[in-house]
Amino acid sequence: MADTTAQPSKPVIHRIHAAPIEARYARGWHCLGLADDYKDGKAHGLSIFGTRLVVFQGEDGQLRVLDGYCPHMGADLGQGRIDGNTVVCSFHGWAWAGDGKCAAIPYSQRIPPKARVKSWPVTEQNRLLFVWNDPEGNAPDPSVAIPRINACFSDTWSDWAIVKWVINTNCRELIDNQSDMAHFGPVHGAPIEYFCNTFDGAVAYQKLRGGSARLAGSGGLTADSAYFGPAYHITLMTGEAEGQPIKSILLNSHVPIDTNSFELRFGVMVEKNPALTDAQNRAMVDGYVQAAQSAFREDVAIWDSKTRVDNPLLCEGDGPIYRLRQWYQQFYTDVAALPAVHSTVEVHEYRGDDTGWHKLAEVPADAASRLSTI
Ligand code: FES
Ligand SMILES: [Fe+2]
Repeated sequence: MADTTAQPSKPVIHRIHAAPIEARYARGWHCLGLADDYKDGKAHGLSIFGTRLVVFQGEDGQLRVLDGYCPHMGADLGQGRIDGNTVVCSFHGWAWAGDGKCAAIPYSQRIPPKARVKSWPVTEQNRLLFVWNDPEGNAPDPSVAIPRINACFSDTWSDWAIVKWVINTNCRELIDNQSDMAHFGPVHGAPIEYFCNTFDGAVAYQKLRGGSARLAGSGGLTADSAYFGPAYHITLMTGEAEGQPIKSILLNSHVPIDTNSFELRFGVMVEKNPALTDAQNRAMVDGYVQAAQSAFREDVAIWDSKTRVDNPLLCEGDGPIYRLRQWYQQFYTDVAALPAVHSTVEVHEYRGDDTGWHKLAEVPADAASRLSTI
């Protein structure tokens, strides 16, 4: 006889999915920190993009990035020395030029035709060095150039103060932050009044207004930020420090080390207060840099310990996390296969004075980015 006894219903459980990560790195410009740090006459070896690279400055002043293992017998070119516009391998002395070609071998008249390593495109902008990664091997797309920030070249602003961390997870975990409105209250003590994400090609904007006891005192906090490509994020922030309005620019950039770790750089610049002396400005800038770094460390602690979730369980107050991930996926997709969604502008706006999120066809005045003005 069949068992017809009613079974108590089982609770529905949301299980986290995390598919194996693909062994591919994002197409785009990746910041390697301050350009000046590489201008010391030395070769610098970097373990990033799952490989080894070497950065060096030739006598012409240009910074260059090459594959970092010498194809002769595998030595690390980061241990080499610079001669003219070449880096010379410490093992047998082969010299490598910025275009990747072997320029000289000290004990051979003839240079093998295949003696060439990959030369990675580089650019300097905003006193920072960038390297272009492209799994398809194409040249950098001029439409995704890193925008100039005039403040980086102005005496009315402090210099970049940059710190670096290694985070042990895939770098895509970091990106959700751009749409994660709900973490500002719990993590940063910064409740949100207005939040807007605009997805526009290779740029993902965020605009927010809120409060922050730590970064804005009793005054309001505004943040106007954007990812320019997959790995370089700039924020123009206004807040308050010791009762004075304060304007800062934040850098949040990362470079994958491999598919399970990345280097994260966080930079801060502060607009000097003309009413203060140089010494007072230095103290004000130092204090603000410390506060901004502590706020960012609050995020870092989460990223460093969280697990990957392909299927986050969202509710109506959450930001457009899935749309943001779709935006980010473009950098892992061959250019010829990019879906049309990446050539349209899409706006997701949250107003604290009503019920939640709206999708808009145009950028509202409240969300207009001012990043091109700094
Ligand atoms: S391994 Fe570099 S010159 Fe031999
Ligand atoms: Fe955060």
